[in-house]
Amino acid sequence: MADQPLVLGIETSCDETGVGIVHGTTLLADAIASSVDEHARFGGVVPEVASRAHLEAMVPTVERALKEAGVSAKDLDGIAVTAGPGLAGALLVGVSAAKAYAYALGKPLYGVNHLASHICVDQLEHGPLPEPTMALLVSGGHSSLLLSSDITSDVRPMGSTIDDAAGEAFDKIARVLNLGFPGGPVIDRYAREGDPAAIAFPRGLTGPRDPAYDFSFSGLKTAVARWIEAKRAAGEEVPVRDVAASFQEAVVDVLTRKAVRACKDEGVDHLMIGGGVAANSRLRALAQERCEAAGIRLRVPRPKLCTDNGAMVAALGAEMVARGRPASAWDLSADSSLPVTEPHVPGPDHDHVHEVSKENLYP
Ligand code: KG4
Ligand code: ZN
Repeated sequence: MADQPLVLGIETSCDETGVGIVHGTTLLADAIASSVDEHARFGGVVPEVASRAHLEAMVPTVERALKEAGVSAKDLDGIAVTAGPGLAGALLVGVSAAKAYAYALGKPLYGVNHLASHICVDQLEHGPLPEPTMALLVSGGHSSLLLSSDITSDVRPMGSTIDDAAGEAFDKIARVLNLGFPGGPVIDRYAREGDPAAIAFPRGLTGPRDPAYDFSFSGLKTAVARWIEAKRAAGEEVPVRDVAASFQEAVVDVLTRKAVRACKDEGVDHLMIGGGVAANSRLRALAQERCEAAGIRLRVPRPKLCTDNGAMVAALGAEMVARGRPASAWDLSADSSLPVTEPHVPGPDHDHVHEVSKENLYP
């Protein structure tokens, strides 16, 4: 344990200011400040509002994390930060803060990938990631199937959504049903009292000629919205619980079916599920059932680690340190479309901390 890296991670890719601290694969602190309430009346995240909220929350959240972990900033072995993908302005706040902390403290800086972090976080819950691991990442911003043989260097995209993200579909249907934002948790709750077989909503991209691992939720979203409209137009009451359950079933049926198929096709016997939608109770249950039937071990972190947080960034940063990956350069920039195939943004392959001069940071 003694030589495990102590890393602080900063996450600001969307509406959560997350600061986590880990010691190797042990979680020490996971501080979050969310601006979700400020976006609620718009029914989605407003980038400018998110950036401003990050700016205000950053220093207090870092201080809260250090206090929670009971460590001193000078004992850190590195500062990790989400370099992308995400909202450009929001990412920029995190990257700038991470640079400032790393530079002031004389620590190496690790710009890491948000998606790889969502996978790596499971190490904090279930120990070292099996290699290879198949990952199903489902959130408001992404729906991807990824295969990784080494989370610090090798993440291969198997498939992704061709239109809406899974979480986005939950949010939009919740809006049509007037259930508020974010939609996932409330649909999950209503669905528990509804009949998932009440309405046969379409399963996107599941035909024999469709791409095996890609997802599509836009057709489903339209089908559900039309169904609700038709009920309303006929002056009938909308059975909210049945709609929620049937819609949710259509989403999780496709997600789990494709994830298990990808595992089987690739001979991978571990599946991890991450991202905000991984908190969905029906997704967890159906994935468990189907994985068991297929002899696949399922790993799903606890809900707080599935949604955006700083601990996941720290977890990946610690893995970068542990595996001797090069730190990022001081000119690290936020990249809103950082490819999933790049788990981190390496700088020159040496200890840049001693190389940098103030001119580099403030040209
Ligand atoms: O990972 P996350 O916190 O942020 C990003 O989008 O990156 O995920 C948020 C998304 C939202 O769309 C929210 O509706 C969805 O995750 N979500 C859920 C549940 N909890 C959160 N979707 C379905 N069921 C849930 N229980
Ligand atoms: Zn995310």
